[in-house]
Amino acid sequence: MSDQTYVTLNDGNRIPQFGIGVFMVPAGEQTETTVRSVLDMGYRHVDTAHAYQNERSVGKAIRESGVPRDEVWVTSKLWPSEYGEGVTARAIDKMLDRLGTGHIDLLLLHQQFGDYLGAWRDMERAVDAGKVRSIGLSNFESDRLEEVLGAATIKPSVLQVECHPYYQQTELKRRLAPYGTTLEAWYPLGHGDAGLLAEPLFAELGEKYGKTPAQVILRWHIQEGTIVFPKTTNPGHMAENFDIFDFALTDEEMGRVRALDRGRRYFTLGLEEQEATLSAFRPED
Ligand SMILES: NC(=O)c1ccc[n+]([C@@H]2O[C@H](COP(=O)([O-])OP(=O)(O)OC[C@H]3O[C@@H](n4cnc5c(N)ncnc54)[C@H](OP(=O)(O)O)[C@@H]3O)[C@@H](O)[C@H]2O)c1
Repeated sequence: MSDQTYVTLNDGNRIPQFGIGVFMVPAGEQTETTVRSVLDMGYRHVDTAHAYQNERSVGKAIRESGVPRDEVWVTSKLWPSEYGEGVTARAIDKMLDRLGTGHIDLLLLHQQFGDYLGAWRDMERAVDAGKVRSIGLSNFESDRLEEVLGAATIKPSVLQVECHPYYQQTELKRRLAPYGTTLEAWYPLGHGDAGLLAEPLFAELGEKYGKTPAQVILRWHIQEGTIVFPKTTNPGHMAENFDIFDFALTDEEMGRVRALDRGRRYFTLGLEEQEATLSAFRPED
């Protein structure tokens, strides 16, 4: 297998372009086994969040993996109930305690509501204090994105949003370009949607390269320059998803995948509905 690829962020830090996401993986044995298994396979990037309620298990698996800490990239996310100057500083210390990984490689604001500007100032201070290496945003797709980009002293290094062949985020990438902010894809496999995986184009390209449709989709993300961390608890899928660094789609094939974009999201709540639905949630410590 060829080597995995890295992306240099706008702050100079080098992030593994591929990793594992642990959204909806229960804390305890399942998260620990998942993270331990993928680190054994060579994965070097884990995406979690306070809201996923499994940070302690992620941290434990990393500490016990035997992989040097500086080889593993850990991303986590603050929930809006943790936003605001002072509040965010305390939330970051609690997160460091839950993870037990010494520092956080990438810290994101999980949602685009609440006192996100106050939170951002505390995140910048956490970078200055060496607690966090890179900071970024998740789900900021409204004009609140430009509000943070304009106010920030440290510009967001990444923006994590829904992105897959049916929703390619081309316009959002254009908005980010002046700031050098890299796009991270959630739902990179469309949350496992059977319809997306059954697209004839992925079967055709998979046949040509001896790869599965999921591998073709993930390879397309990599060649687009997007950072991906598909979720799986299936050991076969873990190995399959990582085995994408020994082939390359041609420019013509990349264009054919781009042509599948149909503006179709799986997560369809607008900003007001997101705020109404998600702000009631309070992650436990
Ligand atoms: N910032 C945010 O608001 C946000 C929102 C959603 C997600 N995320 C992040 O993005 C990560 C990925 O998103 P996601 O987990 O929701 O969606 P996803 O990675 O697109 O899809 C995961 C689904 O695909 C299946 N799958 C994985 N590999 C496969 C393969 N090779 N062949 C066929 N099916 C496969 C998985 O099932 P098995 O487990 O059975 O393999 C699972 O059902 C999350 O874990 C999280 O870290 C962030």
